[in-house]
Amino acid sequence: MNDQAEMLRRIVNTYDQEPATSEPVKRAKVITVTSGKGGVGKTSLTVNLALQLSMRGLKVVILDVDFGLANVDVLFGIVPKYTLLDVIRGEKNILEVLTDGPDNIKFLSGGSGVEELVRLDRKSLRKFVSNINILDKLFDIILIDTGAGVSRNVMNFILAADEVVLVTTPEPTAITDAYALVKMVSRRDQKKKINVLVNKADSVKEAENVATKLCQVSEKFLSLKLSKLGYILYDDNVTKSVKLQRPLSLYNPKCHASKSISEIADKLTSGPETEVQGAKGFISKLLSFFGHN
Ligand SMILES: Nc1ncnc2c1ncn2[C@@H]1O[C@H](COP(=O)(O)OP(=O)(O)OP(=O)(O)O)[C@@H](O)[C@H]1O
Ligand SMILES: [Mg+2]
Repeated sequence: MNDQAEMLRRIVNTYDQEPATSEPVKRAKVITVTSGKGGVGKTSLTVNLALQLSMRGLKVVILDVDFGLANVDVLFGIVPKYTLLDVIRGEKNILEVLTDGPDNIKFLSGGSGVEELVRLDRKSLRKFVSNINILDKLFDIILIDTGAGVSRNVMNFILAADEVVLVTTPEPTAITDAYALVKMVSRRDQKKKINVLVNKADSVKEAENVATKLCQVSEKFLSLKLSKLGYILYDDNVTKSVKLQRPLSLYNPKCHASKSISEIADKLTSGPETEVQGAKGFISKLLSFFGHN
């Protein structure tokens, strides 16, 4: 790790200590949604999963770090005024850059700005970190929508998260690219919790086969155990809702894809409570990675 990155990480960890208390510190769970191949349905899933989680009473924020075309704001039909960069530059506080989405969810456009973090001086970084800590207090879940592929940035968002949702379709190229991504992760973190989700499947059986195959090869050749999160069948309602810029769960809550996403939300929230490092831990890790790549 280079000196600059190490110094920044120390600042995050030392200057921002919570008061000593026996109460567990509240943290938001950071979940990165990613894929090896593009166009497999990450953004649609992120938006609809956020809504489903919100309907379960959880406070959710979407961090959009993808600069592709079908972005979160396009799906919502809302253009955010500010981005995380405005916070990094000290021009806005975190509350000012959170945009209201439907049904109580918030979203925040971020991404490339994160690289500017390494150039901040101590004072600015401290200010930024205390802004980030507010996210832990305000939210239960931070869903990060990434671009596809194994770029350095995407890999960092994966490695720094508490959990990962890896989306693939049954297309052979999508499965191979998903495997390539798991392989990259396994070189850096053998214990990363990766949840596999098969989207646009023709049948439950096909989805099951894809998930099983991916889990088997990852365990056999990479010694990394993946979890199966579920599947979403190919459903025209998804495309229709995108065209209308209306999230699927609001456009057609009873369609097949909506029901599947609802089951996925149940599964994501039903597991045993695991300790999460939250937004603060996420930023601390991201900073440490700057020195590694
Ligand atoms: N279950 C589904 N059934 C039918 N169409 C779907 C389904 N899921 C996603 N789509 C469609 O696939 C296209 C790509 O979806 P989306 O933009 O969410 O993918 P992405 O992985 O975020 O893409 P990118 O890699 O470009 O960010 C969209 O047109 C979307 O409507
Ligand atoms: Mg996308």
